[in-house]
Order: sequence, then structure tokens, then C-alpha cells
Amino acid sequence: MSRALSWLVVAGVLGCLAVSGLSAAEPKYTTKEIMKKGHVPPGKSLVARVIKGEASAEEKKLLVELYEALGQNEPPKGDKAEWQKLTKALLEAAKGVEAGDAGAGEKLNEAVQCGTCHKAHKA
Ligand code: HEC
Repeated sequence: MSRALSWLVVAGVLGCLAVSGLSAAEPKYTTKEIMKKGHVPPGKSLVARVIKGEASAEEKKLLVELYEALGQNEPPKGDKAEWQKLTKALLEAAKGVEAGDAGAGEKLNEAVQCGTCHKAHKA
């Protein structure tokens, strides 16, 4: 391989690493966006409709995406491990609803404790 060509290969590999590294580290939504899209207005929010079984397949998928991003975000305050636990419970329950698991709506209802999470993690 010529020297110029091998540098091209190296640059190409580094370029790919940089791009994939970025997309893995960049959550798709900020926590504020997730709250606005998923949790308000009370009673009629996305999560409330998913819990009540009123959401479309697309809406259920959006909620899973929101909670995926939530777990990737840093909590504005509080213990990171606790944050991971709360957000993982949300994600798993939302995935359960999407998959049509029996009782998943109940689990989601239990996992989405606005006050508990805000007290611990909302700055
Ligand atoms: C897993 C943790 C968690 C849960 C559960 C949670 N929130 Fe939040 N919420 C946060 C955090 C963290 C913030 C602060 C975000 C920031 O300031 O960047 C926030 C902020 C908000 C905001 C303010 C958004 C803004 O623009 O400043 C609203 C409204 C809100 N949450 C509503 C709710 C409601 C309603 C529920 C329950 C249905 C809920 N949240 C459940 C973590 C959570």
C-alpha cells in the first residue's frame, strides 16, 4: 500500500469513529423536551394516554424513545445511580406496553413518579 493510500485509510477509520462516537453520546432529547413531550398536560399527557391504553403504536414508540434519551441524560442534580434506576424502570415499562405485555400499563403507572424524581433530581 502506498503511503498516501494508507493515510487515507487511517483518516477514514478515524472519521467513522468520530461520527459513531458522537451519535452514541448525544441523547436525542433534552430532559426538558422529554418532560414537555411526554409528561404534560396532566391527565392528557403522552404517558397518561399510554397508561390508559389510549395511545397509538406511534405514540408508544415515541415514549420509548423519550425514555431511552432520558436515561442517557445527566440528572441536573442527585445521585446518578438512582437516576439510572428510575429512568430504567420507565424505559422497561414503556417497552413492555409497546410489546403488549399484560400489566405493563400498571408498571408504567407505578414507575412514573413525578414528585419522587423531581425531589431527587430536578434542580
Ligand atoms: C425520572 C425522573 C423524572 C420523572 C419520573 C419525571 N420528571 Fe419531570 N423533570 C425531571 C427533571 C430532571 C427535570 C428538570 C429538567 C431540567 O431542568 O433540565 C424535570 C422537569 C419537568 C418540568 C419542567 C420542564 C421545563 O421546561 O423546565 C415539567 C413540566 C415536568 N418535569 C413534568 C413532569 C411530570 C408531570 C411528571 C410525571 C408525569 C414528571 N415530570 C416525571 C425528571 C423527572
